[in-house]
Amino acid sequence: MILVTGGAGFIGSNFVLDWLAESAEAVVNLDKLTYAGNLANLAGLAGDERHVFVRGDIADRELLDRLLATHRPRAVVHFAAESHVDRSIVGPAAFVRTNVVGTFELLEAARSYWQGLELDRKDGFRFLHVSTDEVYGSLGEADPPFSETTPYAPNSPYSASKAGSDHLVRAYHHTYGLPAITTNCSNNYGRHQFPEKLIPLMIANALEGKALPLYGDGRQVRDWLYVGDHCAAIRVALARGAPGETYNIGGDAERRNIDVVHALCDTLQSLRPREGGYRALVTPVADRPGHDRRYAIDATKIRASLGWAPRETFETGLAKTVRWYLDNAQWVAQVKSGEYRKWLETNYGARSGQ
Ligand code: NAD
Ligand code: TYD
Repeated sequence: MILVTGGAGFIGSNFVLDWLAESAEAVVNLDKLTYAGNLANLAGLAGDERHVFVRGDIADRELLDRLLATHRPRAVVHFAAESHVDRSIVGPAAFVRTNVVGTFELLEAARSYWQGLELDRKDGFRFLHVSTDEVYGSLGEADPPFSETTPYAPNSPYSASKAGSDHLVRAYHHTYGLPAITTNCSNNYGRHQFPEKLIPLMIANALEGKALPLYGDGRQVRDWLYVGDHCAAIRVALARGAPGETYNIGGDAERRNIDVVHALCDTLQSLRPREGGYRALVTPVADRPGHDRRYAIDATKIRASLGWAPRETFETGLAKTVRWYLDNAQWVAQVKSGEYRKWLETNYGARSGQ
């Protein structure tokens, strides 16, 4: 079996569901269930004995040791993290605690477990660390995209804490020989994404007829990858990636934020027409402090050496995503708890339309 951390969150839950749909191998899913973790994401697995859910913290070393000793996984796939840049600006401490210290504890537990394995199991063991392209910092308009050799230059507390975790993973391979692999992926979108990130936030607001808050001039660029394609890349890296290597994962889909939001508005308009259209709701607001201008990924390495390629284009992925949010209004209503409303007030209260 494999141990997945953060498997109740956005990407982790997609990964667990896809994994169990494609393979018979069981999953132990360790998740703290922070505001971003949601057991409703895993409802489809009710009664499935191949899925063992454990609520707990990756910084809890005793719990980690117990889980590893009991379940004896052949791999750890590490998603658990604080993941939202704006929250890291408001409260960076949780990012250092989970992303840096939590990853350190997980690495320590994995190292001790791995060192005690018999030789054949030891060789096959993998620690797959899921990271982000944001560790590379910000690109200018004409710069080449990030490759695996681009120097790290994180700019937000989030990306700095992820960079810290990436460095620890690297060091555990280099120093102890832990068979670790790191993947650095661009912006994901798809089902189960918490409506604090750009795409689900804009869908949720649009459906309520609320303003669509575009930071600054809206011309920042992100590369977008459908979550199912990211999960497929992780499966490939786990199966065939070389220990000690890092792989950049991207969708070859660079888009300006304004164009993403307009595309969303147009998709919504075709599926659920609104008088006056959704584009009329777009409202420029104060920019994010330290806002990275552009991210772009050169995914040549994973494409060429592991044969991975995305199946969805931005247009097909976006259409699927919008449809999912329209069909799952109850999921959206459930996650819009008191905590969510408090976040909207914290992040957008002071930005008001410009
Ligand atoms: P998410 O915020 O939706 O989910 C994170 C999950 O981790 C939640 O279920 C949460 O409860 C859990 N968690 C948080 N702290 C924990 C702790 N201390 N112990 C155990 N569980 C804990 O995040 P996501 O968007 O699914 O991202 C997953 C991973 O992928 C993260 O490591 C993130 O850095 C990385 N990543 C995300 C994106 C993206 O666009 N979302 C892109 C590239 C990489
Ligand atoms: P986000 O989804 O938070 O991802 P990241 O910051 O990790 O790339 O934001 C994506 C882009 O959208 C980013 O440039 C910030 C911008 N954005 C807005 O313009 N308005 C918003 O309300 C949010 C949440 C993001």
